[in-house]
Amino acid sequence: MGRLDDKVAIVTGAARGTGAETAKLFVEEGARVCLADLLDERGGAHAESLGKDAFFQHLDVRSEPDWAALVRAVHARFGPVDVLVNNAAVLDVRPIAELDPARVRDLLDVNLVGPMIGTRAVLPDMEERGAGAIVNLGSIDAMEGMGWVAPYAASKWGLRGFTKSAALELGQKGIRVNMVCPAGGSPELHEGFRENLVKRIEAGEKLAVKGLDHAVMGGRHAQPRDIANVILFLASDDAAFCNGGEYLVDGGHTAGHIWFATE
Ligand SMILES: NC(=O)c1ccc[n+]([C@@H]2O[C@H](COP(=O)([O-])OP(=O)(O)OC[C@H]3O[C@@H](n4cnc5c(N)ncnc54)[C@H](O)[C@@H]3O)[C@@H](O)[C@H]2O)c1
Repeated sequence: MGRLDDKVAIVTGAARGTGAETAKLFVEEGARVCLADLLDERGGAHAESLGKDAFFQHLDVRSEPDWAALVRAVHARFGPVDVLVNNAAVLDVRPIAELDPARVRDLLDVNLVGPMIGTRAVLPDMEERGAGAIVNLGSIDAMEGMGWVAPYAASKWGLRGFTKSAALELGQKGIRVNMVCPAGGSPELHEGFRENLVKRIEAGEKLAVKGLDHAVMGGRHAQPRDIANVILFLASDDAAFCNGGEYLVDGGHTAGHIWFATE
């Protein structure tokens, strides 16, 4: 028996990375899943590979009409929505001195406003049945700061505030809202990051990417499944009393500092 048997789920940003792995795991665990993304070809192919319990729907998380069309499509195919994973996000890496307000507004639109209007779009289904689970993707940058990604960190701190507020407001209606906060590092998790940075480095921009100190986990990086497993838990009834929390999947990076170790 799967942990999401009989559940209908939407995963945004499901064409690649964490979202793609989450959709796959959800199907393995018995859910019927709508994969939503801007990347139609890639998302469509991934949904197809997951079989009859998955389909792809184009979604720009910034668009209210897209959200309305998405919910209509899910109703037509599977029925009312039980689970929403707000995973789609964008990252922009540059120092504060080079901030471009238009870029910042767009980033906030995707990372912060998108999950808000997505939550609103699925509310009627969840309210009607007095049950539902919403999982928002945060980051270690929702728990602490990080140089060169100030707007991204601000968007994730903002989403954390939304998560807690929504948990309080919607928990009374049986709807749980939680946040998963990963730290990545593995190539499987960094397509967006690579698109953003590697091209610029290749074009000659002077950027030193220091990365995370993975000594904490003996050199191991997070894999998409590490993150998807925690999203699955929060989406399932196993997490029936989890509401308004942040769940770190960071290998201990935010736990403190390592000063001493054997060679
Ligand atoms: N990868 C990491 O190391 C890491 C670390 C911390 C937090 N996160 C968070 O986890 C989530 C997934 O990260 P990832 O590494 O898999 O990202 P990714 O860039 O590989 O994938 C994000 C997906 O979102 C989609 N997307 C972007 N803008 C969209 C829009 N406007 N509408 C619909 N879809 C859109 C992209 O097309 C892409 O398929 C994000 O919320 C990210 O901030 C990732």
